[in-house]
Amino acid sequence: MLEGKRILLIIAGGIAAYKSLDLIRRFRERGASVRAILTKAGAEFVTPLAVAALASEKAYTELFSLLDESAMGHIRLSRECDAIVVAPATADLLAKMAAGLADDLASTVLLAANKPILVAPGMNVEMWNNAATRRNVERLAADGVRFIGPAAGDLACGEVGIGRMAEVAAIIDAAQTLLATPTAGASLKGRTALVTAGPTREPIDPVRYVSNYSSGKQGFAIAVALAARGAETTLIVGPTDVAPPAGIRRVEVETAADMLAACQAALPVDIAVFSAAVADWRVARRNELKLKKDGDAPTLALIENPDILATIAKHPQTRPTLVVGFAAETGHVVARARDKLTRKGCDWIVANDVTGGAVFGGDRNRVHLLAGETTEAWPELSKDEVAARLVERIASHFAGRLAAE
Ligand code: CTP
Repeated sequence: MLEGKRILLIIAGGIAAYKSLDLIRRFRERGASVRAILTKAGAEFVTPLAVAALASEKAYTELFSLLDESAMGHIRLSRECDAIVVAPATADLLAKMAAGLADDLASTVLLAANKPILVAPGMNVEMWNNAATRRNVERLAADGVRFIGPAAGDLACGEVGIGRMAEVAAIIDAAQTLLATPTAGASLKGRTALVTAGPTREPIDPVRYVSNYSSGKQGFAIAVALAARGAETTLIVGPTDVAPPAGIRRVEVETAADMLAACQAALPVDIAVFSAAVADWRVARRNELKLKKDGDAPTLALIENPDILATIAKHPQTRPTLVVGFAAETGHVVARARDKLTRKGCDWIVANDVTGGAVFGGDRNRVHLLAGETTEAWPELSKDEVAARLVERIASHFAGRLAAE
């Protein structure tokens, strides 16, 4: 899919710039040509010489270079490509892009661009979480700029959190998707979405409950990715220790019954993603008083909780246009997930293998996407990357619908 495509790669000043050298090689391996621009700070991290050697073409750095401007002006740079990839994108460059500033070659080319743009941010976690960066990312996403990552993990600055530039393979994948669905799929602006996340907690008595290990991380990442694309997103979240993302409308619930009611109240929506690990059973008779150890050990009678996903997917009036479920399986993952897809009436299922318990609470995930008849095995990815891919697919799906309408 990248064969013959011309990528204009903009390398800004972040430590992840070293990965951009590998990115050039991988793009070229797939038959794409790469022309690169380095910002002034980018050139402090990797040299124009190294970039030029790998790209087999001059690396551009100066806006006011007489020589470059006559041979290859900034307008031509932005015209003679099929897509622009910014990797790494710093908080500073994102701010410039969002504000429409053009005071160096990279920002001028981006402002003059008439091609799809993919951005792979890489920065410190607090810079990424800063309200200014959040605003800039939201604005750019609403303008149709696509994002891949950043991922969570150890950062070069020694801190831990979201901020690592996405892996090279993920950027290549995202560029491929961008080229396949260039502009229309970019934005989910004007769409509404609901996402369920985390566990539910089913009380036994005033001090005890039945629950599970879900952290909510996967659902949080999906809600963030949907909101970053411009979808008006409601996150319905059960009790979890992980702080839910800031800046997203959220409804906090405790039990499965509360979660179902909150979902119903959020309808109608275009997109519904059910990533919550809903407790399958609740205690049949909740004790108003604390159970005491003054007799035989109690036997807990359990009754089945309502299936939130199935209820919403089969809603006669307000079924969301796209219903995405999750399937947590231990063995026969794809077959069981396909059965679940049919049984619960959803359109897509993200199936993961939870054998060994590493997925619950962890940061990585290996999933299959079952979309209608098709099944895709995705490589092991961070939960943020799974979210980015899924939301990319959701955006393309709606872009396809728009084109068909
Ligand atoms: N789900 C739901 N309400 C429930 C149970 C599950 O909305 N009461 C949703 C989950 O959010 C997920 C999907 O259904 O999107 C599948 O959840 P999973 O735990 O894999 O399946 P179960 O329905 O619990 O089936 P089983 O226990 O047989 O695997």
